[in-house]
Amino acid sequence: MGFNAKRHLEKIQLVEEHVRQHKSDIAQHPWREHYHFQTPVGWMNDPHGLIQFQGQFHMFYQHHPFSGKWGTMHWGHAISEDLIHWKHQPEALAPSEDYDGWEGGGIFTGSAIEHQDELILFYTGCAQDRQVQCMASSSDGYSFAKSNHNPVLADPPSGINPHDFRDPKVWRQGDCWYMVTGVTDGVSDLIEPSNVQRNGLGKVCLHRSKDLKNWEFINYLIESRGELGTMLECPNFFPLDGKWVLMYSPMGLHDCQVVYLTGDFDEKTGKFHWQTMGSVDWGFDYYAPQHFRDDRGRDLLMAWVGSWPFMPWCRGNYDTSDLGWYGSITLPRQIRLCPDGKLASEPVFEIERLRENEKYYLPCVIHESEAFPFIAGDGVHCEIIASFDLLETSAERIVFRLRGSKNQETKLELDLARGEMIFDRTRSGNISALKRKCLLESAGQSQLNIRMFLDSISIEIFTDGGRTTMTNNIFSSPESNQLSIYAVGGSTRLLGLRTYGLRPSVIG
Ligand code: FRU
Repeated sequence: MGFNAKRHLEKIQLVEEHVRQHKSDIAQHPWREHYHFQTPVGWMNDPHGLIQFQGQFHMFYQHHPFSGKWGTMHWGHAISEDLIHWKHQPEALAPSEDYDGWEGGGIFTGSAIEHQDELILFYTGCAQDRQVQCMASSSDGYSFAKSNHNPVLADPPSGINPHDFRDPKVWRQGDCWYMVTGVTDGVSDLIEPSNVQRNGLGKVCLHRSKDLKNWEFINYLIESRGELGTMLECPNFFPLDGKWVLMYSPMGLHDCQVVYLTGDFDEKTGKFHWQTMGSVDWGFDYYAPQHFRDDRGRDLLMAWVGSWPFMPWCRGNYDTSDLGWYGSITLPRQIRLCPDGKLASEPVFEIERLRENEKYYLPCVIHESEAFPFIAGDGVHCEIIASFDLLETSAERIVFRLRGSKNQETKLELDLARGEMIFDRTRSGNISALKRKCLLESAGQSQLNIRMFLDSISIEIFTDGGRTTMTNNIFSSPESNQLSIYAVGGSTRLLGLRTYGLRPSVIG
């Protein structure tokens, strides 16, 4: 049976009506982000289908419009001229067919390509008994028809769990199309250590096609032997600065949320020989990044700011689902490969368009136990750029006190003695009483540069020349807006401090 366009349209109209009715209920909540993209109503996760088509950036995302919790998945849609100002569009895809219409599943994560003047989406149809790869196309970029050939890829290679075969990322190379998907040979959603025997080994499948409709299995790009995760969600595979990068979101890899591997692709065998492994971001709330290249040749990443209840550190944490919404998208980050095989990223320059109220602070010494208060916009929606002279620093730790008030504070500790960066949300407010830490390479160097973006609830941090990033949500009250720096165990020399307020960016 062919695609039921009428039923699909009716489903989309239901969403649009629901969004129209409910968007003003939540728009004014103080925890709604100002310049990080969010869906107007409901739950969102993974951004995907990122592409420039007919002069516009398109972003699609996993969307459950009807509540603030994950549920039957749809594809939300937004467009932008500059990657920063986004405009909401009607829902792009809704569950309507046997292969993607299951209430407990729906239209899962995928990707976009342009072919013969059409915008073509690939997605996983999540039915009750299996996950299959599907295609939908549009000539205007706004209304999509599912292919009558769906599912274009129904069966995973033998030995793979058909319930965990998802997240197709498609690209063109030579005269062929390639697709990577994430799979497991066991059970993926049992992260409990007691279920460890039933947890499988994650793999990334590589398929190839000449016509987008018939797909041939080439090989597993990588196969975990326990070190790469039990299920590898949202794989991305792309060339970058002379190497290949495989990026994915592993399940069952402790607190490692987004892995990248850099190395060499053997096109003959379809194997990926990786040499370097790293974490794309070290925060609690960073998952499922998607890569795309824009017409300036920039390699860009956007990811979900959020986390899954299956992640051990989420248990007991506050989230906004009861307010009727959840999730946001990171700032677009431009990535590059460093000579040692590590990735570095920085927000795209277009973010500067949101800046206002610039402030400079002159270089000075911050003495032990002497807080250095400063202003950045309203203290809640702002950008902070600081550098420290570590040759003139005797302190063991430099601490940023963010979103402070009488009862609340969020601490970012730059621990020079231990060479670590620690994000401490123990006193941020609500139930997110946890710390995250990662290596801080610059601790051993002569200068430490750091850049932070604070929004209503998210904080994105970039340091070590972009080699270390951390993204976390905090749920502080809007009145918690004090900012200061202090030094512990000695003094530090602040070389420069520049701050900006940041204006809202979503334009309806
Ligand atoms: C990743 C993910 C994907 C899946 C989607 C479902 O966050 O679990 O693997 O396609 O979310 O919403």
